[in-house]
Amino acid sequence: MSQAVAETTLDGANRSNLPAYDVDKVRADFPILSREVYGKPLVFLDSGASAKKPRAVIDAVSAVYEGEYANIHRGVHYLSVRATQLYDEAREKVRAYLNAAKIGEIVFTRNTTEAINLVASSFTGQRLREGDEILLTELEHHANIVPWQLAAGRAGAVVRASPVDDDGLVDLEKFEAMLTSRTKMVAFTHTSNVLGVVTPAKEMTRLAHEKGIPVLIDGAQSAVHLSVDVQDLDCDFFTFTGHKLYGPSGIGVLYGKSNHLEAMPPYQGGGDMIEYVTFEKTTFAKPPERFEAGTPHISGAIGLGAAIDYVNALGRDAVAAHEHGLLQYATARLSDMPGVRLFGAKGEKASIVSFLQDDVHPHDVGTILDQAGVAVRVGHHCAQPLMDRFGISGTVRASIGLYNTREEIDKLADSLHHVKEIFG
Ligand code: ALA
Repeated sequence: MSQAVAETTLDGANRSNLPAYDVDKVRADFPILSREVYGKPLVFLDSGASAKKPRAVIDAVSAVYEGEYANIHRGVHYLSVRATQLYDEAREKVRAYLNAAKIGEIVFTRNTTEAINLVASSFTGQRLREGDEILLTELEHHANIVPWQLAAGRAGAVVRASPVDDDGLVDLEKFEAMLTSRTKMVAFTHTSNVLGVVTPAKEMTRLAHEKGIPVLIDGAQSAVHLSVDVQDLDCDFFTFTGHKLYGPSGIGVLYGKSNHLEAMPPYQGGGDMIEYVTFEKTTFAKPPERFEAGTPHISGAIGLGAAIDYVNALGRDAVAAHEHGLLQYATARLSDMPGVRLFGAKGEKASIVSFLQDDVHPHDVGTILDQAGVAVRVGHHCAQPLMDRFGISGTVRASIGLYNTREEIDKLADSLHHVKEIFG
């Protein structure tokens, strides 16, 4: 029997009615997808780690360096003003993408990891006292665990994790019970990078806010696959990264409610984040510049803006519908295969299938798939506590992007049959 993946979107709409697009035309936008590995067509099922880049993004980054590059916020000359304008336009595209209320609520960072570290240091770190608690979930990526441990360690506070059930679903009752007067921060993933399960983020945020506790949502995976509305979620902070959203690496985003950002001290000091500097004292710029010390990743921000334009042009609902169809197909094909054990295959899901095959080590599965041209991620996926929860050391993870096809899922399944032949 095939296991079921939820048919509905977060807002309850039926995906089967949503518009589709011509995936062959989409694939032609991504130059790297036409290359071969070991003389075989590349079947790229590792977009959860980092997505391929469309020509529009590659061209946007090249165009900056070829014709419009200068440092921003520092020059009165033409190219500096032009580069500043492009950088600011990219920030506005991110604001609209998340439906943030104000452009000043969008801070450019290096990646999701830096965005979480910024909040853990400049916001939570300032509030923590000995014995306080930070509440996470068992689903978290190391990037949403270790920064909190560092902040907690400095203050003598404690990191706790709300449990998930055997399908990787957050137990809301247990989560609520762990919100106490000691809890000073809640942080959780919107979509698990290991399982693809979507957390009830809006409800979790509401429960935390009922007790006056601020919330950070790690959107590294969800910003790619779901339509995120930070005002609707009502989270205090939301983080994501460009490279998973078909944009450049080295550029990420922190959304923070303006009242929080206004009150937060800088994360790093340097140029462009100051108002006035003397040797005795420095006053700081307003957000977002306060949190963007030094020359930023100018071309990266502009490339991220181009990636957002690309996804918006395809249609976020159309992308979600395409990916969801593939997710259902992959779940059905793999769950029908003898010896394949799926993890987190129930409930609201996005674009990730995690599994083990018999007792074959995930690295062996990954290596055999690689020889067939099929790229997947294997191992603990930077989520060792979740592996411990399931009593395993790792999984094989196929993660689906907007350019994948049914034929590629078939290739994955056929190659898994080959694994079975080899290992018996
Ligand atoms: N966080 C990325 C992943 O899940 C690297 O693979």
